[in-house]
Amino acid sequence: MDIRIDKVKSSKLPQTDLTKIPFGRVFTDHMFIMEYKDGEWQDARIEGLKTLPMHPANLTLHYGQSIFEGMKASKNEEGIPLLFRADMHAQRMNASAKRMCMPTIDPDLFVEAVRQLVYLEKDWIPSDEGSALYVRPFMFATDEFLGVAPSESYKFIILTLPVAPYYSNPVRLLASTEYIRAAKGGVGEAKTAGNYAASLLASKEARNRGFDQVLWLDGKEFKFVQEVGTMNIFFVIGDSVITPPTDGAILKGITRDSFLKILTDKGYNVEIRPISMDEVLDSYRRGTLKEVFGSGTAAVAVDVKEIGYRDELIKLSPAKDSLAQVLKNEINGLRSGKIEDRYGWVEPVYEVEKV
Ligand code: COI
Repeated sequence: MDIRIDKVKSSKLPQTDLTKIPFGRVFTDHMFIMEYKDGEWQDARIEGLKTLPMHPANLTLHYGQSIFEGMKASKNEEGIPLLFRADMHAQRMNASAKRMCMPTIDPDLFVEAVRQLVYLEKDWIPSDEGSALYVRPFMFATDEFLGVAPSESYKFIILTLPVAPYYSNPVRLLASTEYIRAAKGGVGEAKTAGNYAASLLASKEARNRGFDQVLWLDGKEFKFVQEVGTMNIFFVIGDSVITPPTDGAILKGITRDSFLKILTDKGYNVEIRPISMDEVLDSYRRGTLKEVFGSGTAAVAVDVKEIGYRDELIKLSPAKDSLAQVLKNEINGLRSGKIEDRYGWVEPVYEVEKV
């Protein structure tokens, strides 16, 4: 499908300070948009970012058929925009779409839309270390109908926004023994809006108790670790780096997958297996719990400095050269072309010649 481009007359970029950007509030000039109707995606275009009129009976507002992705574009020293694992994001978007009974998108079209939008907005890519152009593809139902049924029409939009690192300091986590994020058979593996809405109360209560985020445990026994609100989680115990398996209730993080490959390549003893809070506490008491860190597109890698669990408080002292920092530098280096891409994850974006 051809992508039509209708550029804005004047850019907001000259009035934007790319070195001072709160996450998620500053948007570039354009967005990609297309509609699904009569069984196919139609009218792919890039146009000025604008608000959308919406009928109050829009299905998404009532029953939450909404999914999204989060990816990042950076630029190399020559100023060429680089995408990181865009194909994986296309795949995960389609996996979320299938789970939420929504139409899939041809992965080539998904990646081409990201490429063309990122190329058009390349001057918005911040150059500060760790900053990037965050790319937010999302899809939502647009039928005007109050019956509980899959919508027959959808919009797919891609927003781009310059961002600084999501967390600038090590975080404190509270392992929730009251709320759960997901259970097997549910929608935990899908990147769907409701998963994030369902996390808000627990996050708010955790913050009221002085923590930054919730550490989610399994929905059956509150025993096994799942993930953090905005990230997957890793534990360094003795010589092993352990992360829980994505068993249907945990998001299949693309940064998680990248870390697993990098760690294995570097010769670490990587274990993908269930890990219980009892094991984490036990290793802490024995002095073998060396590090805990989260991984995610927005966060990249962030050290954990405290975990509250029932009456216990695990306190860690993340070092400047922690494994999380090593991995973060590796990913940021790959993303910005400073580290050679041995994996085929990084793709330069060039202008598309229109005929
Ligand atoms: C991301 O890391 O890109 C995410 O989607 C998390 C987000 C909710 C900030």
